[in-house]
Amino acid sequence: MHSDQIVRTFVEYFEDRGHRRITGSTLLPPPGDPVLFTTSGMHPLTPYLEGRPHPLGDRLVNLQRCLRTTDLDEVGDDTHLTVFEMLGTWSLGDYGGRQSLEWGYGLLTEGFGVDPGLLHATVFGGDDRCGPDVSSLELWQEHGVPVEPTVEDNWWSNGPTGPCGPDSEIFLWTGDGPPRSAPTRDDRWVEVWNHVMMRHRRLDDGSLVPLGRGNVDTGLGLERLACLLQGRRSVFECDLFEPWRRTVPGLWPLDERSLRVVCDHLRSAVVVIGDGVRPSNTGRGYVLRRLIRRVLTVLRGEDPSRGLVDLPEEPIRHTLDRFRLQEEVESVRRVLLDEERRFDRLLERGRQVLSRPRFRGPLDEEDLHYLHETHGLPRELVLGLRSG
Ligand code: ALA
Repeated sequence: MHSDQIVRTFVEYFEDRGHRRITGSTLLPPPGDPVLFTTSGMHPLTPYLEGRPHPLGDRLVNLQRCLRTTDLDEVGDDTHLTVFEMLGTWSLGDYGGRQSLEWGYGLLTEGFGVDPGLLHATVFGGDDRCGPDVSSLELWQEHGVPVEPTVEDNWWSNGPTGPCGPDSEIFLWTGDGPPRSAPTRDDRWVEVWNHVMMRHRRLDDGSLVPLGRGNVDTGLGLERLACLLQGRRSVFECDLFEPWRRTVPGLWPLDERSLRVVCDHLRSAVVVIGDGVRPSNTGRGYVLRRLIRRVLTVLRGEDPSRGLVDLPEEPIRHTLDRFRLQEEVESVRRVLLDEERRFDRLLERGRQVLSRPRFRGPLDEEDLHYLHETHGLPRELVLGLRSG
């Protein structure tokens, strides 16, 4: 199933059940929001989850682009990405978690044709603040889906404060042979869909208070589902990455993990640039800078003559179109190439400074601090030059 068809099937399934489609937001949260990027489909809906009436009603569905830097070091495995698209549904004080899971099960098994025998669920097992999620547990048992209760893994919040609650996650078996073990013990169980019973708000002092009404917030990663429905081993092999997979290996022969990092970070950089961010030393610009520099570090580590000037238009254009971004391909390329030049100048300066007698031996924390503060050489870059 092509990813466009996955999105259509998802949205229509929920429209048939009274949901209205809302337009996804950009990666940039509104001014005043404490986080740098939108990390989940619920993020732009926070005021409505906290009680403000939504103009389109109490049942919503959408596709939202998200960026998670918390997953940066996991990029390169089969399932993690920095930028990804999240299909989501919301009940704003309308139906409860049980109904949401019932529909989730129906859509996965009937709409997407997933074999029910390949599903596993997890539910919140309860702690001293909040009792166990018995209703979700029973729902899974009625469907004969194995279910594992956990505590920390089944509590979801978007940050230290704000709306939060127990969740029930749906996993799909990706191993060869019949399913075995359970999600917390075997990573061949891949999480595809999270249903959060968003009934609480966490305050600054860490305490929980009930939200005025019980909401349900669900999120399903599009690239992950596409990979599973298309019978691929990793998200990098689903149709959404096709132009990257087709062009990058021919340009720069890389081992599989490096190839994935390069494809992920370049694609994410294109989306972040398309949303109006430019490289800088702080905030969002710094995240973009890190993405580009990590790509350059991987490429140059193998062959110093490699450069982004060789990157063809096609994957950039595909990504801009996919994320409905207005930015011109040429202006994205200019940002990438300017950043590459800046990085090259910095590397040159780094090499000169590090060749001074003072820095010949092992570097301690004080040296790293001095190199950063006085010469503008980030720790990562210094360590990279040292190990290279
Ligand atoms: N907000 C929930 C998540 O991102 C659905 O997993």
